[in-house]
Amino acid sequence: MIEIKHLQKTFGEKHVLKDVNLNIPKGKTTCILGGSGSGKSTLIKCLIGLLEVSGGQILVDGRDITKITSEVKLAALRRRFGYLFQEGALFDSMSVGQNVTFGLKYLTDVPEKDYPKIIKEKLALVGLREDVAKLNPSELSGGMKKRVSLARVLAVEPEVILYDEPTTGLDPIMSDIISDLIIDLKAKLGVTSIVITHDMHSAFKIADYIAFLYEGNILLYGTPEDFRKTDNPYVKQFVTGSSHGPIQMKLMKE
Ligand SMILES: Nc1ncnc2c1ncn2[C@@H]1O[C@H](COP(=O)(O)OP(=O)(O)O)[C@@H](O)[C@H]1O
Ligand SMILES: [Mg+2]
Repeated sequence: MIEIKHLQKTFGEKHVLKDVNLNIPKGKTTCILGGSGSGKSTLIKCLIGLLEVSGGQILVDGRDITKITSEVKLAALRRRFGYLFQEGALFDSMSVGQNVTFGLKYLTDVPEKDYPKIIKEKLALVGLREDVAKLNPSELSGGMKKRVSLARVLAVEPEVILYDEPTTGLDPIMSDIISDLIIDLKAKLGVTSIVITHDMHSAFKIADYIAFLYEGNILLYGTPEDFRKTDNPYVKQFVTGSSHGPIQMKLMKE
């Protein structure tokens, strides 16, 4: 469904993405693994046109989206992509219900009378009861906030969901619940999922395919099984979370 070809992204002198080549198959979950600062968020921001690419192509259903200049066409494309921000980014001044329907107002012409039904349906999809809709985001736990953010993404019925570190900052049990939810949504809705993560446990559980991003390139692409069996010392070190190996943490440099 999505083909990334020779994608480059530089910020000034800094080559964050050097030559990224990756195919994202329809209806599957692809995890993008990589250390902090390896360019994972940059990659998905390029995918949804939030960042301009420095080179290469991103083909969606065969069309290069990096060449789209029309705002109308770009908006139509973005509507097909749901982006779950790393920070969740709920609006504190709005109720949960208003947060869930926020995108509907701007991106669709769904009539307002349908909102209560949609709020109930999308909250149910993420395992929350309808009465949560009245609450304010400040009254929610971290895990519930993630779920409400996800319900807001689901409200516009995207074909592709991009999750930016959905389990970061959550305790292990809540992380596992979110992983189950990602699996569940794939099964129920048939969505294509792209999950950025450095949570190995979650990646092995949810991924159909994993891509390992390192120094601006995809170092290894394969199934979770391929990752478990790999001899690549960089990938092995990351998978086992060891401080000993070829990956030297640049603790002081950045
Ligand atoms: N808008 C920006 N301007 C300049 N540098 C940026 C910008 N966004 C990201 N970077 C840099 O690009 C690198 C990768 O960032 P990011 O994609 O956020 O990494 P990750 O999500 O893998 O932790 C970092 O070194 C970061 O400082
Ligand atoms: Mg990031």
